[in-house]
Amino acid sequence: MTDLHSHLSTRLLAATTELGIESTAAEPLLRLDPPKNRDHGDVALGAFQLAKLAGKAPPALAAELAAKITPDDVVEAAVAAGPFVNFKFRRSALARAVLTAIARNEAPYGKATGNGDVVCIDFSSPNIAKPFHIGHMRSTVLGNALCRIHRHLGATVHGINHLGDWGMPFAKMMTAYMRWGNETELHRSPMRYMFDLYKRYGQEVKQNPALDDEAAKHFQALESGADNVERRMWRLLRDESLKAFQGPYTRLGVTFDHVTGESFFEDKMEAAMQRVTASGVLEDSDGAQVVWLKELGIKEPCLLRKSDGTTLYHTRDLAAAFYRETTFHPTRILYVVGAEQKLHFDQLKGVLTKMKEPIAKAVEHVPFGLVLSKTEDGKWEKFASRSGNAVFLDEILDEAVNKVRSIIREKNPDLPNADEVAEQIGTSAIVFNDLKNSRIKDVKFDWESMLNFDGETGPYVQFACARLSSILRKVEVPVPSVDAIDWSLLADAERVLLTMMDFGTAVQRAAEQSEPSHVTGHVIALAGEIHSYLRDHYVVGAEPKVRDARLVLVDAARRLLVTGLGLLGIPAPERM
Ligand code: ARG
Repeated sequence: MTDLHSHLSTRLLAATTELGIESTAAEPLLRLDPPKNRDHGDVALGAFQLAKLAGKAPPALAAELAAKITPDDVVEAAVAAGPFVNFKFRRSALARAVLTAIARNEAPYGKATGNGDVVCIDFSSPNIAKPFHIGHMRSTVLGNALCRIHRHLGATVHGINHLGDWGMPFAKMMTAYMRWGNETELHRSPMRYMFDLYKRYGQEVKQNPALDDEAAKHFQALESGADNVERRMWRLLRDESLKAFQGPYTRLGVTFDHVTGESFFEDKMEAAMQRVTASGVLEDSDGAQVVWLKELGIKEPCLLRKSDGTTLYHTRDLAAAFYRETTFHPTRILYVVGAEQKLHFDQLKGVLTKMKEPIAKAVEHVPFGLVLSKTEDGKWEKFASRSGNAVFLDEILDEAVNKVRSIIREKNPDLPNADEVAEQIGTSAIVFNDLKNSRIKDVKFDWESMLNFDGETGPYVQFACARLSSILRKVEVPVPSVDAIDWSLLADAERVLLTMMDFGTAVQRAAEQSEPSHVTGHVIALAGEIHSYLRDHYVVGAEPKVRDARLVLVDAARRLLVTGLGLLGIPAPERM
């Protein structure tokens, strides 16, 4: 909340109290959001729920509230429009509040202090021994942004990599390696080699279905806990995969607080199964153990133990939920996993609900759409399906960086640290493209639109930052203190200032809805507004008082873009 918001909220609280609404009930309902149409006002309040409390019709209450909020130093006007009240702030107050808070790095522009939320974010979580595919990249990029957004809002965040390093998929890989693999080849190019083995397994199992029994046996041997061949193999393949994943993680600026893969829950599943048994929801089904969830509208039962005694993906997720509950006491557990696993998470939440476990409420699947690439005849199809070829994330990042390097060579051949900048822009272009639209939408992977410096892209916003940095360098005077500014000189910057004012709402919504696209939308809007402001208003060469006010504006825009990009996991180069 900016000072503007808190000033208005305080006045509204007084007004609602006068209208007979109890303040503790009114307070959470005083949400000041940007109106649909900026011409109507700077912020709007919907009176629906307040009206219910007051026992009035929403338009009637909106009119009464508007009448009570008479103009003052901060508020210029309050006008009722149907069930809404639209407010307009005085332009000097708007400029002062927003630019002072940004200069001082106060919330919502700077990081807030403890908001009481504890958020576990389960993200990336690739299956080891298989290439880090493009779907995992979306989870990685979305989860990384969500970690940063929640931290900014003052939550305690636990970023967790729930590696797929156990279970049948892993056992298949191991079977292939034991039959056809060798260590020299493995070390040469681990991911590619493991992927080829995995593919070969897929082909050979069609002719020889007994391979699956072999894999099941290996898994049983692994789960026995003995220090056997399987265990050694598991360690080798896991270590090699982890080493290989570290490359893309570093390049994408991703870190985890906990790397606790499925194997971590090996010794925690028995206790979890006992808890399910004790709750009375576990049933026998042909020797296997399941939980039926029909009463929750889920047709398929959740399978927790196979008839051969081995556990499953679900068993480990259940043990993980209990572990997270006792270790972190989370208010939310976000599972950033593709939409194709909807049933899995419905079932997980379903089992916990049926067991009457309070943690059930914290479980939230954060699904997302596919990455699509264009085929030769111009159709869009699932990226990974490209002729059964592996899509290695590192190679995609390299391709992006190479493309940017040649653009730089052409546009700015004298740029001193061209390689570093190309890396920053190239990787960010892909990240931004992933976060640009609502996450559930499929992402079109198209180099031209991702790397367009004039489109709604990462490079475009990074370029806006670099341009602001360049103005601050050229003007050759330091950015003045906010205490020395005549705010009325920024009346012409109203659109930039209003966009800046919306930052807090964008971040809040991103966190509530697990939707970083609100932040992406905000940085695009701010970059656009400051670009058009600077088309018509010069800083260098303006009369000193005006120049000073504009310098504060330019500096704030740069800071806020850097913060916004930072929340998305994107760096902002000084020059490009
Ligand atoms: N390893 C899984 C996969 O690649 C994703 C794991 C997601 N997290 C979880 N707690 N199930 O499909």
